[in-house]
Amino acid sequence: MSHSFGKTPDGPTAQLFTLQNDRGFRAEISDYGGTIVRLFAPDRRGRLADVVLGFDSLEEYVARSPYFGCIVGRVGNRIAGGKFPLDGREHTLACNNSPGGLPCSLHGGLHGFDKLLWAATPLTLPAGSALRLDYRSADGEEGYPGNLDVTVTYTVTADDALRIEYTATTDRATPVNLTNHSYFNLAGAGSGSALDHIVTLHARTYTPVNAGLIPLGHVAPVEGTPLDFTTPHAIAKRIGSAHEQLRLAGGYDHNFVINRRGPGLAHAATVEDPVSGRWLEIHTTEPGVQFYTGNFLDGSFAGKDGHVYQRRDGFCLETQHFPDSPNQPEFPSVILRPGAPLRSTTIFQFGHS
Ligand code: GLA
Repeated sequence: MSHSFGKTPDGPTAQLFTLQNDRGFRAEISDYGGTIVRLFAPDRRGRLADVVLGFDSLEEYVARSPYFGCIVGRVGNRIAGGKFPLDGREHTLACNNSPGGLPCSLHGGLHGFDKLLWAATPLTLPAGSALRLDYRSADGEEGYPGNLDVTVTYTVTADDALRIEYTATTDRATPVNLTNHSYFNLAGAGSGSALDHIVTLHARTYTPVNAGLIPLGHVAPVEGTPLDFTTPHAIAKRIGSAHEQLRLAGGYDHNFVINRRGPGLAHAATVEDPVSGRWLEIHTTEPGVQFYTGNFLDGSFAGKDGHVYQRRDGFCLETQHFPDSPNQPEFPSVILRPGAPLRSTTIFQFGHS
C-alpha cells in the first residue's frame, strides 16, 4: 500500500509505503531517503503509539530534517577533515559539519543517501511485508570513488520487528558505512523528554572522541564511567555528569563497541520506557552502535502533529562501523572492494512488559 508523500525538489513525487503485520504493528516508509516516517508499536495495554520522531510532510524533511528516520551513507557518521586515503590516493569530501569548530564530512555529505529518491519495490516475503529500496551512487558522487549499487530492504515481521537488510556492491574500492538514523521515543514521538528511558548497551568498550566528535583512535573501557550501560540505567541518571566525554558531546553521542563472540547477529541494546512498558531490542551484524541522545535538537521547529521537539526528546541507536574508520587503520575496515559485496542486518524488535 502506498500514497504520494509530495514532490521532491528535483521534481519526481515521493511515496509513502505502509508495511504492517496483522497485530497492528506498522511502519510507514518513504522512498525519499528510505525514511521511516512513522512506526506504530503497542504498549502493555495494546495501545499503539508512533515511536519515531519526524515530520508530517516531505517538504519539512527536505527543508530541515536532522536525519530523522533516514538511511545515511555512503559513509554514515564522521570523516575527519573530509579527507581519507585509499590505495595510495587522498580523497576529498565536502565538510558539512564542524562540532567544536573542527570540520568533518557527516553522514555522506551535502546530498547523501538521506536526501535522494530510492527506487522502491513493495514485496511480500516469507518473513513479512517488505519494501526494497535500490539506489546507484555514481562514481565521484559526493567525492567518493566507484559506482556503488545499494539495496536496503525493510521487513515488518509477524512478531513486531522491523528488520533492515543492507547490501552493496562496487566496481572500485570505496568506503561504505550504512545505517538508519531513527530517533526513538517509546512513550510516543512528541510526548516530551526521552530521558527516563532505561538503556542497556551490550558494550564493554567505546571509542572516545575529541571536540570534533572524531574518535581518538583507541577503544576505552566503559567501566567506572557514565558510559557504562552494561547494566540498565535511565538516560537521565548520569547525562549531566562532568565526565569529559559527556561534556565534549553535550550528552551521549558516542560509538559503543558491541560485545561479540564472532560474526553474525549480536544483541547491541535494549531500551525500555517504564511508563508505557514498550521496549526496543536491537540486534545487528555491525561492530558498533552510535548512542546519540538528541543533544542537537533545540525546540526550533515542530514535527509531526505540531509537536515541538526539544533537546533529548528522542534518542538514536545507529548500528554502524566506527566513526572516521577510513582514517583509522586500527578500526574494522569499511572499504568495500569489487567482488566482495557488503551485507549487513539490523533488527529493531519491539515488545512490551
Ligand atoms: C549523529 C551524530 C550526531 C549528530 C546527529 C545528527 O548521531 O553522531 O553528532 O550529528 O547524527 O544531528
